[in-house]
Amino acid sequence: MKKESISLHVFAGLFLLLTFQFGLASAQPLSQTPPMGWNSWNAFHTDITEQKIKDAAQAMVSSGMKAAGYEYINIDDAWMDTVRDAQGRLQPDPKRFPHGIKALADYVHSLGLKIGIYESAGTKTCAGFPGSLYHEKTDAESFAKWGIDYLKLDNCNNEGVDYLKRYTDMQKALLATGRPIVYSICEWGVKDPYQWAPAISQLWRTTGDISDNWNSMINIVDQQVGLSKYAGPGHWNDPDMLEVGNGGMNNNEYRTHFSLWAILAAPLIAGNDLFHMTEDTREILLNKDVIAVDQDPAGKQGYKVSDNGDQEVWVKPMSDGSFAVLLLNRGQERAFMTTTVEKVGLSKANSYKVVNLWDKGNRYQAKTYSTNDLIRSSVSSHGVAMFRVWPESKG
Ligand code: GLA
Repeated sequence: MKKESISLHVFAGLFLLLTFQFGLASAQPLSQTPPMGWNSWNAFHTDITEQKIKDAAQAMVSSGMKAAGYEYINIDDAWMDTVRDAQGRLQPDPKRFPHGIKALADYVHSLGLKIGIYESAGTKTCAGFPGSLYHEKTDAESFAKWGIDYLKLDNCNNEGVDYLKRYTDMQKALLATGRPIVYSICEWGVKDPYQWAPAISQLWRTTGDISDNWNSMINIVDQQVGLSKYAGPGHWNDPDMLEVGNGGMNNNEYRTHFSLWAILAAPLIAGNDLFHMTEDTREILLNKDVIAVDQDPAGKQGYKVSDNGDQEVWVKPMSDGSFAVLLLNRGQERAFMTTTVEKVGLSKANSYKVVNLWDKGNRYQAKTYSTNDLIRSSVSSHGVAMFRVWPESKG
């Protein structure tokens, strides 16, 4: 073989190796189950500091949330300075984030957690800070250099530039950094993101912003009907972050909110002040049976199987052949609700084991019972009964 041809082979070999490695990095499977974590917006809005983010990270560990699967500490809008630096790079607000994002990321990582950040695919963020439109490469490089693991990209001030171009430009910029960064598209469901976002991101918002009240939360649930087919491992519909613990709903309604998000295989991104949360809030966010419904490896988003106005039944098929079943009472009065194993779609068996995922057992409902037909519970106003149902003793 001639010398030139040998070096050509070496060159080609190297090229293939690099492509393979880069290909692997870019194809790294992220968010095989819905992301779990915390975000600063719902509790603090623009009033954020380095200390508050650190407190949240610490509380995520000490409250038991980390052990329950919560992983991301996400900084939302207003972390940055009002201007870019002389090189055109984003810089954190020097008063509120005096040690910079890299140091904060190092701290969060030292706790065994991951860190997320926020930007907008527009000229400014929603709160008026410098946006990432036309700065995708520079900003993605900053995020990667700081050690960011998750980017939420908003839609404010987009100047009418094509959505697909804006969101794809950032996807490419993130991939080019070689760092695995979960890409969370926050386009509010305007251009049917479930049609195009699964190809370029791990999650996409399906609606406008949630507020901390029953009507907002339940309206968002209504807008999830029909979207189940778009979700699966690595790509999730995002009905927005949790309001559990923020005070605008009662604990019964927060349990409903959390249960519905689990049935929907939604990202579980807590939005309350973790450092000051009550025991009731902690119990809701830490219900491991409900979290297991959300995090099931099959990644099937649940769906509604019946609706008579005030009363709805939702189900989520689970990877082990069981189903999660949710009886939802939207009405003003307590109601006795029933469904059947057949209506739910469970496979045929002589009997079924029914486990109540919230009640420890009370006068209305045993914690666990056996049935061959009815799944039933008394359900409070704005409440749910949530079960996991296993077929047993076949044929
Ligand atoms: C938009 C988003 C919210 C939040 C704010 C921040 O409204 O949808 O989730 O990030 O911007 O300004």
